[in-house]
Amino acid sequence: MGILQGKKGIIFGALDENSIAWKTAMRCHEEGAEFVLTNAPVALRMGEINKLAEDTGSEVVPADATSMEDLSNLFDVAIEKFGKIDFILHSIGMSINVRKGKHYTEMNYDWLTKGWDISAVSFHKVMRTAWDKDCMNDWGSILALSYIAAQRVYPGYNDMADNKAYLESIARSFGYYWGKEKKVRVNTISQSPTATTAGQGVSGFDGFLQIADEVSPLGNATADDCADLCVMMFSDFTKRVTLQNLYNDGGYSNMGVSEGLVNKFINGLEKS
Ligand code: NAI
Repeated sequence: MGILQGKKGIIFGALDENSIAWKTAMRCHEEGAEFVLTNAPVALRMGEINKLAEDTGSEVVPADATSMEDLSNLFDVAIEKFGKIDFILHSIGMSINVRKGKHYTEMNYDWLTKGWDISAVSFHKVMRTAWDKDCMNDWGSILALSYIAAQRVYPGYNDMADNKAYLESIARSFGYYWGKEKKVRVNTISQSPTATTAGQGVSGFDGFLQIADEVSPLGNATADDCADLCVMMFSDFTKRVTLQNLYNDGGYSNMGVSEGLVNKFINGLEKS
């Protein structure tokens, strides 16, 4: 339909074709948007992103999202190419405690610090860079990806739960100033468990995914569903939606239990 015709953006976090950012880039392209793709230099070494760049006619600019210098360079490239920007997708997450299997009760605090810098503070750094360069068009849209562990307990999600709570808070706190002074909206999308590299790194992930799918009246939202919602949030149809954490989860966040889950549990008890 071309609902992003004429819109320009920056998309962070497309690692491979399962990535939420990858699917979002494809959908944004289909809807007429132009964008710069970016990821950490180490992730770009895998080279997969070049296929996405070809398919979407995009330039790839390396940037570690924790480095203000890298971010400044990235935004300079985007500004040079597009002038002002209409949308930004922050689709970045990483916990070293999760990756190395460190239990939450035995947290390594150096890893914690690195993890929150990558997963939460980088969102502030991205917005700060755009703010300082005054490069967002009026009615622009900035999005980051979150997970319901920011509000509820999911053992195994570890310090990523705290990182997501921090991320959502940054969206609201900075989003206030973006709205007030620049007419730009800032939101987070709280997505169902999704089989990606980051998702599958979490201990017990398959259980989270299957239970969420069972409990949600509409079933889990896929990465493609998330891409559709990102497109909508970047479009002019959502101009005054801001400071929100939007659940894209098939209804999971408002459920207690489903009949299916109860039946499976009871049947399991009877068999044991
Ligand atoms: P993914 O592994 O494809 O994407 C994560 C991205 O973060 C990768 O592209 C990685 O290179 C990038 N990244 C890591 N460190 C970075 C750094 N220092 N600078 C720049 N980029 C860096 O996985 P996915 O699932 O697409 O993750 C995207 C977002 O969605 C993350 O914020 C994740 O927490 C969130 N999310 C994922 C869910 C899932 O079940 N997969 C559920 C809810 C939210």
